[in-house]
Amino acid sequence: MRQKIVAGNWKMHKNAEQTEDLLNELIAEIPTESDTQVIVAPTFVNLASAVDHLEFISIDVAAQNMHQAESGAFTGEISAEMLTNIGVKIVILGHSERRALFHETDALIANKVSTALAHEMKVIFCFGEELKDRQKQQHFNVVQNQLHDGLFHIEDAAWKNIILAYEPVWAIGTGETASAEQAQEMHGFIREIIRKNFGATIAEDVSILYGGSVKPENASEIFSKPDVDGGLIGGAALNAADFLAIINAI
Ligand code: 13P
Repeated sequence: MRQKIVAGNWKMHKNAEQTEDLLNELIAEIPTESDTQVIVAPTFVNLASAVDHLEFISIDVAAQNMHQAESGAFTGEISAEMLTNIGVKIVILGHSERRALFHETDALIANKVSTALAHEMKVIFCFGEELKDRQKQQHFNVVQNQLHDGLFHIEDAAWKNIILAYEPVWAIGTGETASAEQAQEMHGFIREIIRKNFGATIAEDVSILYGGSVKPENASEIFSKPDVDGGLIGGAALNAADFLAIINAI
């Protein structure tokens, strides 16, 4: 059964107090009978408190990144073991901001995926084309290559721990959303290449989230598409009312 998921990537927003306030607002209103998985990804320094805060609540906590090595002289970095040790079992990898601003390559991301899976973490694997790729009609190729080079080295059995997040870079933080048709077209393509490489069961079961300027106003149309299983939300996840409206739109 394919899981519906709404995840909030808080990026570099919300200090300790603000994290607690937003979590309290979410806890107060989160639908209890829903079969949608809700995930929040606060900054590293607020992960432990978020895990504690959400212990008896059906909201899961994800990290926004991690290092690929087990440990070592990597000043400023965080390992998978450090995350699981405080109860964080999900990690976002390959976000376009990591790729563009921190020069993460497909090979590096592939390494991080392997490390996360070895620690039995779930991975929200992000990928998506830039505007120039779409203008050159290269968006399908770019996406296919990102999946091949960053993810497709995994074993069949590891797919149960993979959540895909298609985030066209031109739609992130720009207010410019992919149309529901554009999202469906790409999600259908992604599911098809997974089917070709890993078979129909894995392709049918994997959740593919859309990310890029999802807002309460456009969420239900995007989520209504058959291959869109939820969203990875940036800006609109920083406000409880908007994030809850998006959760309720699924
Ligand atoms: P926005 O929703 O702010 O466009 O960000 C999307 C995103 O990057 C989520 O990871």
